[in-house]
Amino acid sequence: MSIVWNPNRRLINIETKNSTYQMKIDDYGNLIHTHYGGKLQDTDMSQELVYLDRGFSGNPYEVGKVDRTYSLDYLPQEYSCFGTGDYRITGLHVRNTDGSKGCSLHYKNHYINQGLYSIKGLPAIHDSSDDANYETLCVEMTDDVNNLEVTLIYSIINDLDIIGRSVKLKNSGNKALTIDKVASMNLDFTYGDWQWVRFTGRHAMERNIVRGDIYQGVQSIGSVRGTSSHHYNPFTVICEKETTENMGQCYGFSFLYSGEHITEIEKDQTGSTRILVGIHPDDFCWKLAPGDELELPQVLLSYSNEGLGTLSRNYHKVINKNIVRGKRSKERRPVLINNWEATYFDFTGDKLVEIASQAHDMGIELFVMDDGWFGKRDDDNSGLGDWYANEKKLGCSLKELGEKINAIGMDFGIWFEPEMVSEDSDLYRKHPEWAVKIPGRNPNLARNQLVLDYSNPEVCDYIIKSLSDILSSAPISYVKWDMNRSICDKYGNSLDADRQGEFSHRYILGLYKVLETLTTTFDDVLFEGCSGGGGRFDAGMMYYTPQIWLSDNTDAINRLSIQYGSSFGYPISTMGSHVSASPNHQTGRNTPFKTRTTVAMAGTFGYELDITKLSDDEKKQIKEGINLFHQYYDIIQQGDYYRLSTPEDKCTAWAMIKEDKSEALISAVYHGVEANQKPTHIRVPGLDLNSNYVVEYVGDEVACREISGAALKNGGISINPSRIEYDSYVIHLVRK
Ligand code: DGJ
Repeated sequence: MSIVWNPNRRLINIETKNSTYQMKIDDYGNLIHTHYGGKLQDTDMSQELVYLDRGFSGNPYEVGKVDRTYSLDYLPQEYSCFGTGDYRITGLHVRNTDGSKGCSLHYKNHYINQGLYSIKGLPAIHDSSDDANYETLCVEMTDDVNNLEVTLIYSIINDLDIIGRSVKLKNSGNKALTIDKVASMNLDFTYGDWQWVRFTGRHAMERNIVRGDIYQGVQSIGSVRGTSSHHYNPFTVICEKETTENMGQCYGFSFLYSGEHITEIEKDQTGSTRILVGIHPDDFCWKLAPGDELELPQVLLSYSNEGLGTLSRNYHKVINKNIVRGKRSKERRPVLINNWEATYFDFTGDKLVEIASQAHDMGIELFVMDDGWFGKRDDDNSGLGDWYANEKKLGCSLKELGEKINAIGMDFGIWFEPEMVSEDSDLYRKHPEWAVKIPGRNPNLARNQLVLDYSNPEVCDYIIKSLSDILSSAPISYVKWDMNRSICDKYGNSLDADRQGEFSHRYILGLYKVLETLTTTFDDVLFEGCSGGGGRFDAGMMYYTPQIWLSDNTDAINRLSIQYGSSFGYPISTMGSHVSASPNHQTGRNTPFKTRTTVAMAGTFGYELDITKLSDDEKKQIKEGINLFHQYYDIIQQGDYYRLSTPEDKCTAWAMIKEDKSEALISAVYHGVEANQKPTHIRVPGLDLNSNYVVEYVGDEVACREISGAALKNGGISINPSRIEYDSYVIHLVRK
C-alpha cells in the first residue's frame, strides 16, 4: 500500500519506493503539508513546525483570539488560496459573485482508490493493469462560504517514485464564481537552501540548462504563447546546491500540458520555499457556473536522493511506460528520411520517389514528405488549411505517390500543420471567422500565417474530417504534426464575452480532442509532434505523439546541448533526431558524417538531406550507421540513459545501459580539440559492479580492453584523444 491514512494523527503518508510525502489535517481543519523527500519511518513531521507570533502575519478568525502564533502566512500548506491570510504566491484565486477576491479551503473528506486517475480531455499517467504499484488519493476540500469544492488528486506510481498531482474544481453553490488562477500543484518546504534548474531557449536553440539560487522573492518562468514554447520548458527541477548527477537531493516537476504554463517559486520571510505549477494566469479566467466542474492538468513530481541522473531516469521510465500510448509507440520505430532539408518546397513527385528509392537501398525504412505537397504551397506564404494534394506538383494523386513509395519497399509518411491557415487559402476565403483575431484589429502574422480557432468545436470537427479524409485516402503510416507560430490576438468567435478568458485553455482542450480522435482512429499511424522543432516538447504532447521533432536545429554540435538539456525530463525515445547535410543549414558548420550519425542516434534516428547528392563514401556510412542503430536498438531506445559529461566540457559523453546491465553503449563527441590534449576521463556508473566488461571502440582501430564495472564507476575510463575537431566515438561494453 502506497497511501497510508493514520486516523489518530489525522495524517496521510504517500509512500513511494524512495520517498515519503506527508500531509496532516490540523486542529482547525487546514491541510498542512509536512514533508516531501526521503523516507520518514512513520514520524509525524508536524511536530517540527515552529509556531511564533510574527508581526504582520495575521491569524484566521477562529484561532486568532486564542493563538496568535497560528498563521496561514507561514504554515506549509497542501494548497494555498489568495485573499484570506496567506500573502505569498498562492495557487487558487477566486472572484466571488459580490466582487470580492478570496477563498478559504478546509478538509472535508478523502478516499483512496486502486489504479491511476484519468482526467477528462487531458493527458495523465495511465495503465490499465490493476497493479498494486498504482494508487490514487483524492482529498476533498471545501469553502463553506462560496461553496467551491476543490479535490486535490494524487496518482502514485510507487516503483518509479512518481506522484501525479492535479486539481478538480466544482461549484456546488448557486452563484457563478470566476477562477482567475488555479495551480495544479502547490508544494511548500519549510526549510532548505534550494537551487532551481530550468530549461530555457529560443527557436532552434531549445532547452539550455540554467541553474541558480532560489533567493528571497519571487521567480518564475512560463509561456503565454499558446504553446509550451521553445523558450521555457514546462519541466523544471529544484535541488540542493551540492546536488550533482550522481548524488544529492532533487525534485522534478513535469507539467503534462502543451499550452500556457507557469512555474513560480517564492522564498519567503522565514526561508520557506513555495513552488506552484499550473496554467499561466495571464491568459486564464474561467467562469464556473453553478454545478460546473473544471479539471486541471497533471504535474508529475519525482524525488531522488541520488542526484539528477536518477531523477531523469524516473521521468524517462514513466514517459515510456505510462505516458506514450498506442500500438506504434511500443513498436520498433522506423529509421526515416524526411525531404525538408533536402528540397524545402522545391520538389516534384519524381524527385521524392528518387530520394525514397536511394534511401531504401541504404536501409532507410520510412519516407516522409514534408511541407509543400498540398493546396497552393510553393513557399510559406499560402495554402495552409487546404488539405488536399497538389497533384500537378506531385505528378499523381497522393494514393498513387504512397503506392509508389510502398512499391519501393518503404513506408510513406506525410506532414501537416493542422492548426494554421494562410490568408491565401480556400479555407480562409470560405471561413475567415475561423482564424484567431480580435474583432476590429488586424492580427499579427507570423510566417505570414494565422491560427485556426481550436476553441471552436466546429473548427475541430472540420480538421478531424479533413485529416481523416486524407489519412484514409492513401497508404500513410506516419504523420508529422507541425505548428509554426506563437498565438496572440486571442479571441474565440464561438465564446461569449465573459468566457474569452477561457480561450487559451479551450484551444488546448480542442487540440487534445482532435489529437485523441485522430490518433485512436488511425492507430496504425505513428504520429510525430513538432512545433518549429521543439516549441511544444512536453510530456502532455507525448501522450498523443510518442516522438517529437526535437529542434529545427540539426547541427550535430548544437544538438549536443539541446539533447543534453532535453534529457533531464524526457527519454531519447521521444526525441526526433536526424543526420543532415554538412555544412549544416542552420549554422554553416562542417562536421564528420560519423559524428552526425553518433549524435542523431541518441534519438528516434533518421536522415534529412539530399541523399541523391551524396558521395559513395557517405552512402556507405549511412548503411553502416543504420546497421549500428539496428544492432544496438534495444540498448539505445530502452536502456537507462546516463549523462557522463556536459556540453560545456570539451568532450560530451553519454551512455545507454541495458536494464540487465549486460551491455552498454557510450557515445563521446569532441568539440574543442586542443594541441597537446589533456585526457578526457569519464566515470560510468550504473554497471554491474561485480563483473568485468570488454570495451570495444565500434568502427575504430583501438585495441579492446577489459575493465570491471566497479572500476568504470569508481575509476573511470579515458576516451581516446582526437586531433580532428568534432570527432566522435561509439564504445560498446559487453559483460563477460
Ligand atoms: C518546421 C519544422 O520544424 C521543419 O522540420 C519543417 O517541417 C518546416 N516546419 C516545414 O514548414
